[in-house]
Amino acid sequence: MTVAAHLGVAPTTERWLRGRMGDEERPGAEGFLPAERDLESLRAAATGCRGCELYRDATQVVFSAGRPRAALMLVGEQPGDREDVEGEPFVGPAGRILDQALGDAGIDRDDVYVTNAVKHFRFHRQGKRRIHEKPAVGNIVACHPWLEAELAVVQPRVVVCLGATAGRSVLGRTTRITEERGHVQQSPDGQAVLVTTHPSALLRLRDDPGWDAAYDAFVGDLQAAAKAAAT
Ligand code: URA
Ligand code: SF4
Repeated sequence: MTVAAHLGVAPTTERWLRGRMGDEERPGAEGFLPAERDLESLRAAATGCRGCELYRDATQVVFSAGRPRAALMLVGEQPGDREDVEGEPFVGPAGRILDQALGDAGIDRDDVYVTNAVKHFRFHRQGKRRIHEKPAVGNIVACHPWLEAELAVVQPRVVVCLGATAGRSVLGRTTRITEERGHVQQSPDGQAVLVTTHPSALLRLRDDPGWDAAYDAFVGDLQAAAKAAAT
C-alpha cells in the first residue's frame, strides 16, 4: 500500500504535504531504509534519515526501546526534550507517567516495544527553552516508513496508539481519542490496534479533579491491550 493510501490522503495531497516544505525537505523516509531489515539495521539506518526537515534541529534520532519480539507495541507521538538529549523514547516526564501506569496495569516495561510515530523532536525556541511542537501531518507521512518497517519486524499482537498522532500514523486517518479509546480495532492492514490517551495529556491533568478518573481509564486501556495481546 502506498503511504498516501495508508494515511488516507489523495496522492495529490501527499505531494502537496511533502512539497510544501520543498521536495528536498520532505522526501520521506523510504529511501533511507536498509534492504535487510531487522531492528539493528533499521536503528543504524535511521541515524542517517533526512526524510523530512526535523533531523536538522534535533540532537539525534530517537528510534525505539524494549523487547524486539514484543506482543505489545506502544506508539507515542515524537521524542520530547529529554528523549532528544538521551536518545531513548519516553524517558522524560511523560515517560514517568507511562512507567507508573504500566506498573499499575501489571505490565513490565521490559516486555513491551516502545516507539514513536515521528522519530525526531519538533520544537521551536523560546529564549533558552525548546518548546514542543506537534508534528505536522507531513512529518507523520514522511516518517511512516520507519514505523511500518518496525511493525513488520516486531509483529506485535496489539499496537497501542498513545494519542492522535500515533493513531493517525497507524490507522491512516484522523482518530478521535475520546470516541475510540479502549477497544481493540483492526487497522486497514489487519493489525489489532487500541487507541488511548497520550501520557502528556494526563500530565496536564495532574492537579485537576479529573486526574484520578483519567489515570484509571489509561491504566484500564493498557490492561485491555495486554489482555488482548495475551489471547
Ligand atoms: N512523548 C512521546 O510521544 N514520545 C516520547 O518518546 C516522549 C514523549
Ligand atoms: Fe526521517 Fe522521521 Fe526524522 Fe523526518 S522525523 S528526518 S522522516 S526519522
